[in-house]
Amino acid sequence: MDSPQVENDLVRVLFTEDQILAKVGEMAARIDADYAGKDLLMVGVLRGAVMVMADLSRALDRHVEMDWMAVSSYGSGTKSSGVVRILKDLDTDISGRHVLVVDEIIDTGLTLGWLISNLSSRKPASVEIATLLRKPDAAQMTVPVKYVGWEIPNEFVVGYGLDYKERYRNLRAIGTLAPRVYS
Ligand code: PRP
Repeated sequence: MDSPQVENDLVRVLFTEDQILAKVGEMAARIDADYAGKDLLMVGVLRGAVMVMADLSRALDRHVEMDWMAVSSYGSGTKSSGVVRILKDLDTDISGRHVLVVDEIIDTGLTLGWLISNLSSRKPASVEIATLLRKPDAAQMTVPVKYVGWEIPNEFVVGYGLDYKERYRNLRAIGTLAPRVYS
C-alpha cells in the first residue's frame, strides 16, 4: 500500500493550500464584479480543473451554472499539433450565454486555444478564460486569458488537480516532485 503522505513526494511547494484559496478568492471577486447583472455559465475542463472549479465557484457571491467538457489530443505526442477531440461535450446550449472556461493550467495554450475557437462558433454572448496557472515560457500560441492566478516558470508541477501519471491531483498544495518519483 502506498503511503498516504503523498505530500512527502513534493520536493518544493510553490503554493500552499492557503495561498491557493486566497488567490482563488481574489479571482472570484473580480469575476463577481465583471459579471454583475449577467448570467454566468462556468465550463470546467476535465479532469484537472475539478479542484479550481469547486473552489472558484464556491467563492463567488452569485448564482452560477456549471458544465464540463473533456478534451484530448489525438494519440500521444501530438499535443503540439493543437488537434483536439471532444471526449465529453457540454450538455448546455451556450448560444447567447456568458461563458467562463475554467482550467487549472495553460501550458502551450493549444488546448484552450482550440477550445475557445470551438466554443466561439456556438455563438455565446461572451467567452473568457480563468486559469489558476499559466506558463508564459511554454506558450506556442497566444490565448487571451482574462483571469490568471499566477504565472509560473516552465517546470512540471503537480497537485490541486495537476497530475503525474494520474496521481497527485488530490494534493492540497502545488509543487514539484522529487526526482526519485520519476525513477
Ligand atoms: C492540462 C490542463 C489543460 C491543458 C493545458 O490537461 O488541464 O487543459 O493540459 O495544456 P496546453 O496549454 O499545453 O494545451 P491535460 O491534457 O493534462 O488533462 P487533465 O486535465 O485530464 O490532466
